[in-house]
Amino acid sequence: MKISDYNKKAEDYRHKLNAHISKLLLNLKPDSLYNPIRYFMNSGGKRIRPILLIASAGASNNFKTGQVINQAIAMELLHNFTLIHDDIMDHADLRHGHKTLHTKYDVNIAILCGDNLLAMAFKSLNKNLKFNINDVLNTFSESVITVCEGQSLDKEFENSNNIKMSDYLDMIYRKTAAMISASCKIGALSSNAPAKIIRPLSEFGRYFGMAFQIQDDLLDMEGDNPKFGKTHGSDLIEGKKTFLLLSALQKARGRDLEQLTKLVENKGIMPGAVKKHFEIYRRLNVDFMARETSINYINKALSQLNYLPDSMHKEFLIQFSNQILNRTH
Ligand code: IPE
Ligand code: IPE
Ligand code: MG
Ligand code: MG
Ligand code: MG
Repeated sequence: MKISDYNKKAEDYRHKLNAHISKLLLNLKPDSLYNPIRYFMNSGGKRIRPILLIASAGASNNFKTGQVINQAIAMELLHNFTLIHDDIMDHADLRHGHKTLHTKYDVNIAILCGDNLLAMAFKSLNKNLKFNINDVLNTFSESVITVCEGQSLDKEFENSNNIKMSDYLDMIYRKTAAMISASCKIGALSSNAPAKIIRPLSEFGRYFGMAFQIQDDLLDMEGDNPKFGKTHGSDLIEGKKTFLLLSALQKARGRDLEQLTKLVENKGIMPGAVKKHFEIYRRLNVDFMARETSINYINKALSQLNYLPDSMHKEFLIQFSNQILNRTH
């Protein structure tokens, strides 16, 4: 697939998804609930999970966008629920370059918007769902449970000083990769895919999701461009056990190790110290390690696609995976 065709296809998916989301949220009352939801849902998300779902349905059984659009929207509604609650938990002020929901409105509204989006997600999942209904509902519910477990571990790790890389990998599987994997699997199930390609697609999503979260950690360090839209260094400020911090703790010696140990003991740093800590990360080359690890996961993801028959949609998934490695937001 030529890069221009890929770009056109990705844009087309985003356009259709955005139109559908706007229509779904139009005229819903009360405004006190739906204005904040409209604000957040239209603030510039990349729509990665619903695109993966639709492309997986295409690659499975040549299903067209319209045939699984409600399931794709369900995944995006669920994702936005997790983001709204995540921003409360992470004390985040900025997302997509705009105020987070709980900073623009208040925490109570943000909790309620998240709850409502979760129920709307289940409703959309069930709409015009024709195949493997039980499996789809189970996969979806299971992914919600797994995200909650991952988010709980993420918070728990802030208070612990002996987190290993294997703990981290399990935590990011739960908080991020499980839902991306579920998106691909639901694309396959809801398009009645042959049984033998359901697992490869779900594994593809899992590896893709691992790469995606490691990159998200890396962007906290690199993403000081306006498009990034989140507070630069917020993971350091919050004392998050990211890929960067855990790799740096393994490699650091002397003064660097002292600094990083202090960060862990204090459960974070002041905003003014972000630059100094990123210098340590650069010295230790952990940004390079993150990039390498993320490339490895994408290669694992791509190797799962060998189990799929050749198609334009499979080509799209290959390009989409490669493009993810260059993302800046
Ligand atoms: C952000 O996900 C949360 C993570 C799991 C890293 P995205 O980067 O896909 O969020 P939006 O919807 O595009 O903003
Ligand atoms: C995202 O983790 C996981 C979920 C939203 C479930 P992060 O906390 O790293 O995501 P960002 O960086 O705030 O988008
Ligand atoms: Mg966060
Ligand atoms: Mg978080
Ligand atoms: Mg992050």
